[in-house]
Parts: sequence; structure tokens; C-alpha cells
Amino acid sequence: MVNIKENFSLKHSNTLGINVYARYFVRTKSLDDIKDVLENYRKYFPFYILGGGSNILFTGDYNGLIIQPDLKGINIIDNDLENCIVEVGAGENWDDFVKWAVENNLGGIENLSLIPGSAGSSPIQNIGAYGMEVSNVILEVKYLDLLSKEIVSLSNRECHFGYRDSIFKNHLKNRIIITSVVFRLKHHPVFNTSYGNLQTETGKKGKLSLQNIRDAVINIRRSKLPDPEELGNAGSFYKNPVISANQANEIKQQFDSVPCFPVDETRVKIPAGWLIEMCGWKGKRVGSAGVHEKQALVLVNYGGATGEEIRNLAMKIGESVFAKFKIKLETEVNII
Ligand code: FAD
Ligand code: EPU
Repeated sequence: MVNIKENFSLKHSNTLGINVYARYFVRTKSLDDIKDVLENYRKYFPFYILGGGSNILFTGDYNGLIIQPDLKGINIIDNDLENCIVEVGAGENWDDFVKWAVENNLGGIENLSLIPGSAGSSPIQNIGAYGMEVSNVILEVKYLDLLSKEIVSLSNRECHFGYRDSIFKNHLKNRIIITSVVFRLKHHPVFNTSYGNLQTETGKKGKLSLQNIRDAVINIRRSKLPDPEELGNAGSFYKNPVISANQANEIKQQFDSVPCFPVDETRVKIPAGWLIEMCGWKGKRVGSAGVHEKQALVLVNYGGATGEEIRNLAMKIGESVFAKFKIKLETEVNII
């Protein structure tokens, strides 16, 4: 029996801490519950699927049903000398799973420590950090197809993963509910400490190990990203733009210090945080919304900000980056 709540505050269900209300809200503990809701509670629709709410900006109340799939379980489904295949329910907390993997000496996701949200959301924008993307270890994604009501399984290749991108943000958007994700973890992982100061941070912690990498990543993240429990935020508000090498060279002539990361022979990625900082936004506050003082890519809610305030600030930032650099920033956060 599902428990549908009415006029439910979403303040504690989105990490930006925006206080909006869902007309109806339900947390579904099983696949049968999800099917029950889809079949028998259509009068409460439209509906929206919510994970941990760490990549969402609500700009107003939601006049429909918010469904939070809370399917649990971390199950080893195959194991050999090299690989451990683990199926994780969509409602498991992502970082609890990373912690579990590190404690069980299974490698492949340690660099993705402390990313908020649920395991079921991890393939959607192909979460990435510190030189690793979750697509490196995903074997399959299982979902409920909302039309056929069947469980479908997509292989890694079929997910069309890219930088902060997948089929779930495009062709399958609003057409499915992810129920579980199957990961291939390694008993003998190759450590990856090439990103930024990760090598230095792990070095401080003695012999290289999965736990050291996890601890170092957590330290680095805590030093620059605000904790949503203390300061509402949704991580990077924008994606890092990929531009032509020619355009990057033009920028370099004016701004010698521009950080560029080659994507291929003709394209480079530029940190949006740098572009935003160069436009003077870092640490700026407008009403209750602001730009984080240590990471210009992160917009924050100082308390009581409305979704509109955050969105207006984001628009102003986008306009000023375009005016100065002729680069159009694309939001990473889902704006509802
Ligand atoms: P939500 O925000 O709840 O939802 C995101 C989208 O997925 C929505 O469109 C929603 O409808 C959809 N969705 C959620 N669950 C399902 C489901 N089961 N089936 C179908 N659709 C679903 N991201 C990174 O990639 N790298 C980082 O380093 C990183 N750092 C962050 C740091 C902080 C402090 C914060 C707040 C966020 C950070 N993020 C990062 C962004 C965020 O944590 C990830 O995008 C995360 O995967 C979102 O998960 P969620 O469960 O909170 O998704
Ligand atoms: N930078 C600045 N000013 C800033 C912020 C960054 O100049 O205020 C420049 C610096 O040159 C810095 C470079 O940007 O060296 C990279 O900064 P950082 O390592 O903090 O990474 P990022 O590119 O800003 C990306 C992801 C993060 C992820 C980190 C670590 C995107 C959109 N963001 O940020 O992911 O944690 O790398 O791998 O790709 C998220 O997606 O929500 C997220 C937090």
C-alpha cells in the first residue's frame, strides 16, 4: 500500500534547499509500488521522478506527483578472480555504495567518492570527478519502460554515455524509471591519481590504496565544495564548455592564464568556473542567492532563496560569460 502525501515540502528533498511544495509526493519501496502508482494514481499526474535532489532546481511548486523510487539492495551477482559484478538498487545512496566498494576492496569508483545523490541517478548525467566517469564501470542499466511497463536492460554501449550525458537525458528522458544499475568492479584495480592535486593528497596518506584515494578525494572536495547540509547548492551549475581550439587560442591571446584541457585534435574544454570567475562573479551575493567563494561554478542558497532567484542569477552569469567570451554556458542542473 503506497502512502501518498499531500502538499509535501520539498525543502529537505533538494540540496539547494528551495522551499517549494509538491501537490503529491510518494516514496516507492518496490517495483510493485511503482507500478501501483503508475496504474492507480493517474489522477495525481503529471509526475516527476526524484532521486536525492542534488541536481535539480525547483523554480516553483510542483502541481503533480513527485515519485521517489526507493529501491534498495547492493547484491553481488557474479564474481571471479578479476571482476565483481554488483547490482545496486536505484534508491541506494551513491556514496554509501562507494564506501561499501572500498571497504570490500573493490576498485573502480573510489574517485567518485562523496558525490551526493542516488545510485539510480548516476548513469543519467554519467557522474564524473577526479579523472573518472561512472560509465567506465557500468555494465548495464535496468529501467521500467513507462509505455510497455516492462523492465528493459541497456548495455553500456546502448547508454550513449558522454561528458555529463547519456541516452537518459535525451531519447529516454521522461519515458523511463531506472530501477537498478549493474557495475563491474575490479579486485585488482589500477589506481588513477592523475587529476589535479590528487596525487599529492594521496601521497600524504601513505601507501596508495582504495581507502587512501577515497579519503583524499573527500578531503579535496570538502576543501572547495560547500556541504549542502550547511549551504544549499547543487554542485556545478553549468557544464564545462567544449570549444574549438581556434576559439581557445583567441581567448589565450587576451587571457594568458586560461586553463585548457584538450578533448581531441580540434576541441578543448575550458572550466566554466574560470570563465565565471573572470567575469567577476566569484563570491558575489545577490539577495539570498550567490556564487560560492571557493568554486565559481557552484551557485548557493544562503537561506530562503527562491528557485527564481537562483535561476535569475544563473541567467545573469550566463549572459556576462557570453558577452565577454562568446561562449554559451549549458546548465548541468535540471531546472523544473
Ligand atoms: P536528482 O537531482 O534527484 O535527479 C536528477 C535527474 O535524474 C532528474 O532529471 C530526475 O528526474 C532524474 N532521475 C533521478 N532518479 C531517477 C530514476 N530512478 N529514474 C529516472 N530518472 C531519475 N555530479 C557529478 O557528476 N560530479 C560531481 O563531482 C558532483 N559533485 C556534486 C557536489 C555537490 C555538493 C552536489 C550538491 C552535487 C554534485 N553533483 C556532481 C551533481 C549530483 O550529485 C549528481 O548529478 C547526482 O547523480 C544526482 O543524483 P540525484 O539522485 O540527487 O538526482
Ligand atoms: N577554476 C577557476 N575558478 C573557479 C573554479 C575553477 O579558475 O572558481 C578553474 C581552475 O583552473 C581549476 C579548474 O577550473 O584548476 C578545475 O576546477 P575543479 O578541479 O574544481 O573542477 P571543475 O572543472 O570546476 C569539474 C566537475 C565537478 C567535479 C570536478 C572534479 C563539471 C561541470 N564539474 O569541476 O563536478 O567534481 O571537476 O573532477 O564537469 C558537478 O558536476 O556537479 C561537479 C561538482
